Amino acid sequence: MKRRTLLLGGAAIAAGAATLIWRPEDLGAPHNAYFSGLNDLLKKSGPGKPVMLIDLDRMNHNIDVLAASVGPDKTYRVVVKSLPSVDLVRHVMARAGTQTLMVFHQPFINAVADAIPEADVLMGKPMPLTAAETFYRTFDGTGSFDPATQLQWLIDTPARLAQYQALARRLGVAMKVNLEIDVGLHRGGFPEPEAIDAVLQTILDDPEHLSLGGFMGYEPHLTGLKATLDHPAVQSVLSIYRGFIDRAERKGLDVNRLTLNGAGSHTLRIYEGDRTMNDLSAGSGVVKPMDFDTYHLSQNQPALFIGTPILKRYDELKLPGDPSVGKLLSAWDPNRRRLFFIYGGYWKAHFVSPTGIPEAIYHSTNQEPVTTSPRVDLSVDDYMFLRPTQSEHVMLQFGDLLVVKNQEIVDRWPVFQQA
Ligand SMILES: Cc1ncc(COP(=O)(O)O)c(C=O)c1O
Repeated sequence: MKRRTLLLGGAAIAAGAATLIWRPEDLGAPHNAYFSGLNDLLKKSGPGKPVMLIDLDRMNHNIDVLAASVGPDKTYRVVVKSLPSVDLVRHVMARAGTQTLMVFHQPFINAVADAIPEADVLMGKPMPLTAAETFYRTFDGTGSFDPATQLQWLIDTPARLAQYQALARRLGVAMKVNLEIDVGLHRGGFPEPEAIDAVLQTILDDPEHLSLGGFMGYEPHLTGLKATLDHPAVQSVLSIYRGFIDRAERKGLDVNRLTLNGAGSHTLRIYEGDRTMNDLSAGSGVVKPMDFDTYHLSQNQPALFIGTPILKRYDELKLPGDPSVGKLLSAWDPNRRRLFFIYGGYWKAHFVSPTGIPEAIYHSTNQEPVTTSPRVDLSVDDYMFLRPTQSEHVMLQFGDLLVVKNQEIVDRWPVFQQA
């Protein structure tokens, strides 16, 4: 009996020690000067609902960094899905001095063709034939955008090329096609250089309806390797890419005139010293959502924030059901001693200010509960700030983007309509 008591006592001491080790620290802090400024701005001039903010200076810095990485000998292609607003895309184009875009959604092709008729558009994924048909049916053709020369449809299989060729014949239009090549991601596309022989022949045999725009070989599997150009995984991507270029050259095509596209925000910087691809894409790195806190984007700055008003504040953790649960939880975790409810919530985003906010006790897209330390001295009508984890979907959820510079809202940019 004595031995058992001893053992139990030992276990209790061990549990107590573990408790001391694992007990959460108080991580709370009020807004720093940057977020205090944004808080004052939104309280004064915000619409009283959740908003998406873009920091103009930070974004311009990011555009400059990306454009410098691409350099003067290659083309910087702006990824529209990651920057889903005509005004935003126009801003990036003007700042970076580029006219080339990558588009992933049929309604956005029409929007771009109408609003940015000087753009050169490469599709970022193969589209069902009916999407292509919808584009031609709804494209009014009154502007200067010429799909035959300014739009490259992405083709991943001989069967898709046959579909597009039939459509081009039916509509009596010329189509530029770009071949998706698999450089190691294994997300589809032509698996090896030999596989493009037949499609190149089909294109060469039908110059009235088809022309080759180039290749697209996306390689986000290099993200996380902290790879430089001489990394074996990078060299593998480039040697596979060269295999396709050689194949086209052997067919008599002038490869210098082709769009040889690849890269994304995560990997673009790897290719500063390489000339295999002449056309590099990036979108997300312009605003740097959280998933883009990656090695090659270390020079880029977070420029995208959700700001949302606080609706309610309680200086204790009130939970539905047994009140002792809230008491225990807040006694245990100093970051759960104050309870706020915000306007909206449960976005693909994490809190950046105030700091030290633990995982929500439950989620709500209407009024998310947010617990903090008592050091977070915010009140009802103050704003909390989050950083989206990605841009493409989250940016479409807040209406106009608010462009901020020196604590002023300097522009409001409508986002794309999804349908
Ligand atoms: C084909 C292709 N290219 C480039 C990108 C890079 O976009 P971002 O720079 O926003 O990561 C993507 C992203 O999904 C893509 O699918």
